[in-house]
Amino acid sequence: MIEVELGDDHADITRHDTFVAGVPYATFDRLRREDPVSWWDEEDGRGFWSLTRYGEVIAASRQPEIFSSARGIRLEDMDEEETAARRTLMEMDPPAHTRYRRLVSRAFTRKSVLAYEEAIRALARRILDEVHGTPRLDFTDLVARQLPMRMLGRLLGLPEEDSDWLVKRGDALIANSDPDFTDYVVDKVDTSAYRLLPFRSPVAVELMGYGREAFEARRRHPGDDLLSALLAPMPDGERLTDAELANFFTLLVAAGNDTTRYTMAASMKALVERPAVREALAVEPGRLEVAVEEMLRWASVTMHFRRTATRDTELGGKEVHAGDKVVLWFVAANYDPEQFDQPYHFDPDRRPNDHVTFGLKSPHLCLGSHLARMELRVLMEELLPRIASVAPAGAPERLRSNFIAGIKRLPLEIEWK
Ligand code: HEM
Repeated sequence: MIEVELGDDHADITRHDTFVAGVPYATFDRLRREDPVSWWDEEDGRGFWSLTRYGEVIAASRQPEIFSSARGIRLEDMDEEETAARRTLMEMDPPAHTRYRRLVSRAFTRKSVLAYEEAIRALARRILDEVHGTPRLDFTDLVARQLPMRMLGRLLGLPEEDSDWLVKRGDALIANSDPDFTDYVVDKVDTSAYRLLPFRSPVAVELMGYGREAFEARRRHPGDDLLSALLAPMPDGERLTDAELANFFTLLVAAGNDTTRYTMAASMKALVERPAVREALAVEPGRLEVAVEEMLRWASVTMHFRRTATRDTELGGKEVHAGDKVVLWFVAANYDPEQFDQPYHFDPDRRPNDHVTFGLKSPHLCLGSHLARMELRVLMEELLPRIASVAPAGAPERLRSNFIAGIKRLPLEIEWK
């Protein structure tokens, strides 16, 4: 079995810097064994509970009435004004969440997404044609970064030449702790002037403005795209308000962009390290549907989401008080040996594989999960048969974030077929 770097077993998981060296799996393993519901003080926050076992992560996910999303889903402490201004469906609980989600979910069902398979394939082929023959490349930048955003642009009916502009804006939001992606690094510069904006970033203004114009254009000329679908009323006449539409647009650009990209990068890295698996999947693409689930588990790109306890409760033998922040470490649950046999073994045929990468059992189960799965599968179907051999061409570089596990540079040397 291939040795996986498990990192420091006493890493400070509250710090973004920690994750530049890689996910400290050894720390999560130790916590899961010794203190699966552990308290962490924060330098710039009020502290939080860390859930590292599969069982507690699922238990908290399925009880939104006790573990609420309405007071924030990331570690950042927000006051009521900030929370209200920045609210999307992610920061809502049932029943308000259910109503909002019903309005947007029809565009993301498995069936709706199947209709995009050919478009995704054509786009994947074009992206691969552009790099085919290039002996050394940064896989994240030239392949993984291209497909999800260009595809999202296509779904939203936006001009392809805007994709790069949108990707950069999305990155500045999600990667707001990495100076490579934003000038407004949350824990380094004073971002209080932007506290009412999504991700505390002025870049959100640009995205919301772009979104408003795009919706305006669809109102004048409705098309066969997701934005037009979002404008259409439900059978009972309900519609999203303009503010809801703008916030949702920003959320899509932020959520649908780097998550799939970094899953592709982590999956490729796993396959580069396992040539036999890569070669087998290249000639047996029928195994990819199952293998994609292992790629999603392996990558665990959104390492955590947060909840807030609505009342005093007991969890894993600890007394959690009303108002406490509770962090669900999906990346730890996905490597829990009680749930996944030999979790550090990349098994493309793993079944069952009930990973929590998309927020299993939560009402917030990722809306883009079918799209992300399909993009990953189609990319691998198109990419793997083109590769004769592939090796690292330098050390990968990782995002400075304890929220997103991102390989932001993956230099590879490829011999193309
Ligand atoms: C591998 C890629 C992806 C991963 C790992 C991922 C992960 C997640 C997770 C864990 C959640 C639940 C958050 C919570 O419980 O608070 C979520 C929600 C969401 N995701 Fe994804 N996501 C991915 C791709 C996408 C894509 C491609 C889109 C859009 C095109 C998207 C849109 C959303 C939206 C809108 C929500 C909010 C759903 C709700 O609150 O009801 N995601 N995602």
